Amino acid sequence: MAEATSEERSAAQPNILWQKLRGDFPIGSEPHARGQPAVVDIPNAALRESSSDADLGNFYAVGEAWAQLAMSLTTTSTPRIVDIGCGCGKMARFFVVNPQVHYCGIDVFGPAIAWCLEAFQHFPNFRFEHLNVYSSVYNPAGAMQSETVVLPVKDGAADVVICASLFTHLLQPEFVRYIAELGRILVPNGRALVSIHDEPKDSSFSGDASRIDIDRSYFVDTVTATGLQVSRRIGAVYGQQVYVLSKS
Ligand SMILES: C[S@@+](CC[C@H](N)C(=O)[O-])C[C@H]1O[C@@H](n2cnc3c(N)ncnc32)[C@H](O)[C@@H]1O
Repeated sequence: MAEATSEERSAAQPNILWQKLRGDFPIGSEPHARGQPAVVDIPNAALRESSSDADLGNFYAVGEAWAQLAMSLTTTSTPRIVDIGCGCGKMARFFVVNPQVHYCGIDVFGPAIAWCLEAFQHFPNFRFEHLNVYSSVYNPAGAMQSETVVLPVKDGAADVVICASLFTHLLQPEFVRYIAELGRILVPNGRALVSIHDEPKDSSFSGDASRIDIDRSYFVDTVTATGLQVSRRIGAVYGQQVYVLSKS
């Protein structure tokens, strides 16, 4: 029998375009990758893709880069890290080796939180919260509006907040609300590590929930208006502009 052509082989591949999987999302894990720490399971390709990119190498590389940046911002040996839009735990997995870290991951995408609850169940300092807020892309059945959301974190209870590729998906009123929430949940002297796309079309803010772009000046002005400071622009990290925000 003739061997299948490469086109035939790729046509036979399962379609993992995660947005088409809504009704029947395959929550699952994959075998561990050789040479990587085997502490937490690896989310399957559909889950990884829902957090930007199915590629396993990028999953590890981006997660480790963000985790190291976040740890560099801690000022206490027992940091409380809140990861808003945590997805399938790309950053969380790099904190488990430190028993001093207390971590809270929050996301509107139910399958990712369901997977994290299972995969991190043996780490008592880790909690994950599904936020049933509406997102046309990630949670179209969400019951709450994100422009009025109160995140499930107490005032001043976060030393470091991560928003990795979160503001790249929030509409303007939601973005403003989440910046205000950062101000509420950060401890005085706390830091937030956040990213944006910064190429808006024809205005200071453009796009839809699948990709939002924000003008850098508008971003800085919005942050400053809430009483936070933009203490550093780190620059491009895997295609997004990364900033450090601080609360005095
Ligand atoms: C591009 S993914 C990034 C995931 C993760 N931070 C990472 O870098 O792997 C964006 C994430 O933000 C989440 N998200 C979107 N809108 C949200 C909202 N209003 N509140 C919390 N999370 C949200 C999505 O469900 C998705 O998991």
